[in-house]
Amino acid sequence: MTGILRRFLDNPGMIGAIAPSSPALAKAMAQQIGKGVAVFEIGAGTGAITRQILKSALSGPLVVFEQDHFFVESLRRRIGQIRVVEGLFHDTVVGLDEIPDALVIVSSVPFVSLSKILRFKTVEAICHILAASPNRCLIQYTYFDRPPFVPRQSSLHWRRLGRVWANIPPATVWELRAEIDPEMDG
Ligand SMILES: C[S@@+](CC[C@H](N)C(=O)[O-])C[C@H]1O[C@@H](n2cnc3c(N)ncnc32)[C@H](O)[C@@H]1O
Repeated sequence: MTGILRRFLDNPGMIGAIAPSSPALAKAMAQQIGKGVAVFEIGAGTGAITRQILKSALSGPLVVFEQDHFFVESLRRRIGQIRVVEGLFHDTVVGLDEIPDALVIVSSVPFVSLSKILRFKTVEAICHILAASPNRCLIQYTYFDRPPFVPRQSSLHWRRLGRVWANIPPATVWELRAEIDPEMDG
């Protein structure tokens, strides 16, 4: 049995997948990262997307957030050169010294299967970070062809980036970012 399937059987709502992200999905996520930005990856799991992020032209710092102890140990053992923060994103992100202005949050969080309270806290933490700067965005995939969640902040908007068929199951990649208000700009 693969690591992720075993973890899924123990905690299906939190893990949310029975197979790692495919190379095609990992590439589609990682290619959204521009030059010189910092990256937070939430829910790195087996590290399929993490490895692709490291392979692509990552030039800023990468911090990985993962709540599952088995995956944390495995990420630390197998992908040595990254900072892995163990715990829930909304709890652990407040412990960072600073949040860079130019930031891409790459997420595999299974919003559909998370408990209601955890979904609320995770969405609030992500949206609070994004709403503070238009230089930040969230890259997130879903297995259904609709946006992952509805942000409370009216400044935040989803953009559908594309569908990746070569994944189990096929996935849609989305971007969420704050739109600059033209009346406030300049
Ligand atoms: C779909 S799985 C991993 C997908 C990953 N791309 C892969 O290929 O293995 C989602 C992961 O998100 C983690 N996770 C879920 N909610 C989280 C949260 N609030 N904070 C940190 N990690 C979380 C789970 O532990 C799980 O490892």
